[in-house]
Amino acid sequence: MLAAESAAPRCDRTAVPADLLSPGWADRLVDAGFDVTRPTAWLVEGLLVYLTAEEAAALLSTVGELSAPGSRLALERGRSGNTVLDDPSIAHVTSLWKDGLGAGTADWLADHGWHIENHPLDTVAAHYGRPMANASGTGFVTAVRATH
Ligand SMILES: C[S@@+](CC[C@H](N)C(=O)[O-])C[C@H]1O[C@@H](n2cnc3c(N)ncnc32)[C@H](O)[C@@H]1O
Repeated sequence: MLAAESAAPRCDRTAVPADLLSPGWADRLVDAGFDVTRPTAWLVEGLLVYLTAEEAAALLSTVGELSAPGSRLALERGRSGNTVLDDPSIAHVTSLWKDGLGAGTADWLADHGWHIENHPLDTVAAHYGRPMANASGTGFVTAVRATH
């Protein structure tokens, strides 16, 4: 698809397979060329919900240690009061959820060296010209690393 658009990458892409609950993934990332002295960007969408609060906090702590000032991070805002859990057709997925830091994710980040910004889902949807009849109360959080 990119070739059809004559799109050319402006960076290299290096995949580093990892179980993020196992120790050593940060070292393997650095060994693969990740430069901790330069600002980076993390996309953590759809991951933390599969972890416990302790596991999510540990993962985000490591991410913080790898994030030079000015680094960016984005993730979905933890669900709270979301009716999707009641949908039996996706129980095979939701049964795997351990909730991560849940609705406290943004506060955790703010307490651990990140400047956060909340983006309610209905606001994001409206921005893309797809207004929502029922705001779900979920959304996204973006964050900028303040300290190293
Ligand atoms: C709902 S998907 C998110 C997909 C992602 N946002 C994307 O667009 O590709 C959840 C992802 O979390 C990954 N995951 C869950 N637990 C993990 C772990 N302990 N280590 C590494 N990846 C994990 C799964 O492999 C899966 O790719």
